[in-house]
Amino acid sequence: KIMSKKIIAGNWKQNGTLKSSISLAKKVLQAVKKAKYTHEIIIIPPSIFLLPIRDLIHKSQIKLGAQNVSAFSDGAYTGEISGSMLKDSGVDYCLVGHSERRHIINEDESVFSSKVSRLIDSDIRVIYCFGETLNDYKNKKTKLIIKSQLKKLFLNNKNNLKKHPSKLILAYEPVWAIGTGLVPSPEELVSIFKYIRDTVNKLDKKYSPIKILYGGSVTPDNASSLMDTKHLDGLLIGGASLVAKKFIDICSTI
Ligand code: 13P
Repeated sequence: KIMSKKIIAGNWKQNGTLKSSISLAKKVLQAVKKAKYTHEIIIIPPSIFLLPIRDLIHKSQIKLGAQNVSAFSDGAYTGEISGSMLKDSGVDYCLVGHSERRHIINEDESVFSSKVSRLIDSDIRVIYCFGETLNDYKNKKTKLIIKSQLKKLFLNNKNNLKKHPSKLILAYEPVWAIGTGLVPSPEELVSIFKYIRDTVNKLDKKYSPIKILYGGSVTPDNASSLMDTKHLDGLLIGGASLVAKKFIDICSTI
């Protein structure tokens, strides 16, 4: 395997207070300063806490991610935050396509592709989440669903992604593994990650540097064995990223 930076990203979702978020960021910062990890560490707080956390982690090894972005460029879109505002606020990464936005907020592929465009225009890296539901999984439709989600992403953003393939990171998050304590078996993961890599490479050779993360019930106990999966470049962590010790343990164990 070519030595490339592993990615550990913590998606805090809609959790915490200003005080608890700053305290969590401080603890992660201290650990990162001490350990000097070689991987890319990303924390993804609620948007309203981005700026104070930016000030804390500024000039450190930790990168800042946003959970959401407007599908529109600056203008009359009440309540939205644009890609250029995120960039201006020190954001390096942004999630798009997360299962909670697909299934609870009801966003669809056309919204996601606008968001991907806005982010690439604003020079922010996209962490694009995708994955099958429990029903798809039970009906053995995992690969079919993954293929269709990836095809839509790459087709809708062809020009941008061909020009800037390194601006995209994929995050495979089976919906049934999010917050449930369930994770796919090692065999399933090997087969799925090979499939994702092959599907991406088949679309265009230029896409081969795109990194692929796994997300869904990652803990300090399973992180290192998950990372043994071929073609897997890092982890996207929800619940465990809210507990400083767990997040730091994951960073240390992989
Ligand atoms: P959990 O780690 O809590 O399962 O969440 C995963 C996730 O949705 C990260 O984006």
